[in-house]
Amino acid sequence: MTFPAHRPRRLRATPAMRRLVAETRLHPAELILPMFVREGIDDPVPVSSMPGVVQHSLDSFRRALHEAAEAGIGGVMLFGVPEEKDAVGSGATDEFGILNVATRLAAAEVGDALVVQTDLCLDEFTDHGHCGVLDPEGRIDNDATLVRYREMGLAQAAAGSAMLGLSGMMDGQVAAVRDALDGAGFSDTAILGYAAKYASAFYGPFREAVGSSLQGDRKTYQQDPANRREGLHEAALDLDEGADAVMVKPAMSFLDVLADVAAMSDVPVWAYQVSGEYAMVEAAAANGWIDRERAIIESIIGIRRAGADAVLTYWAVEAAAMLKEGEA
Ligand code: PBG
Repeated sequence: MTFPAHRPRRLRATPAMRRLVAETRLHPAELILPMFVREGIDDPVPVSSMPGVVQHSLDSFRRALHEAAEAGIGGVMLFGVPEEKDAVGSGATDEFGILNVATRLAAAEVGDALVVQTDLCLDEFTDHGHCGVLDPEGRIDNDATLVRYREMGLAQAAAGSAMLGLSGMMDGQVAAVRDALDGAGFSDTAILGYAAKYASAFYGPFREAVGSSLQGDRKTYQQDPANRREGLHEAALDLDEGADAVMVKPAMSFLDVLADVAAMSDVPVWAYQVSGEYAMVEAAAANGWIDRERAIIESIIGIRRAGADAVLTYWAVEAAAMLKEGEA
């Protein structure tokens, strides 16, 4: 009973039929926009390796927040670009540091319409560019970093972040920040664990976006791209430690890990379509080598199909508009 009884093309014959049988749908509410806010600028500064993405001034940030809310996306993920950096990332815990200022502004302006999330990691704030603090020998000090993450979590929760995105890949970070939050009356603040985060070449343009001064690499804390099972182990630990949602990052080169995590997780699973994934499509499209809009939607739907409940993408607002047009 194969051909001619089975003709899969019947279900592809018309737009109406294809629409009816589509297995995966994209909705604006499943898209989260990462945003960069830079201290001490009056006008937004374009990120050259990410055409269309800027480091926001507080003014342009406010406007972009309202655009995002009107587009009906699910949330924003905020990154701060401070003027001054130091060894312990003091700007991260300063209530007047740029990320905390931006968070208060976002919570006040669009906190009812969007889930305001914040990146909880030290790399944007340290002069050495690492996600943690260093010991006297220059190695990452995991447990001393957890102390800073606890302080950073409290500063972000106090500023009104609804969900803390723990992206530093320190062991025990979810448990540590959960404990700090609960001890200070922030038991309603949610935690997104960047459970499976790989040491990826695709973060390249992000380093420009946050003015990172990283020397060396992050291979002692971010995962080896060769490892699939380890992604499951990391996700299981984050779930155990109380993560409210877990992330796989980057997205497109780790779809197998994403599918594995989606199969075992009992909380939402998100994926981060990172800066290099964005830059690749924009560069190819600028050369006329691919159809930009189709590539954007195909890449995001592929990440959803692999198991992501929501996707962080720099195209969130534009993709939401495309989806609305598609419906109209
Ligand atoms: C760490 C962080 C990074 C990204 C998000 N959070 C950089 C890194 O781990 O090196 C990268 C995001 C992107 O490339 O779009 N704070």
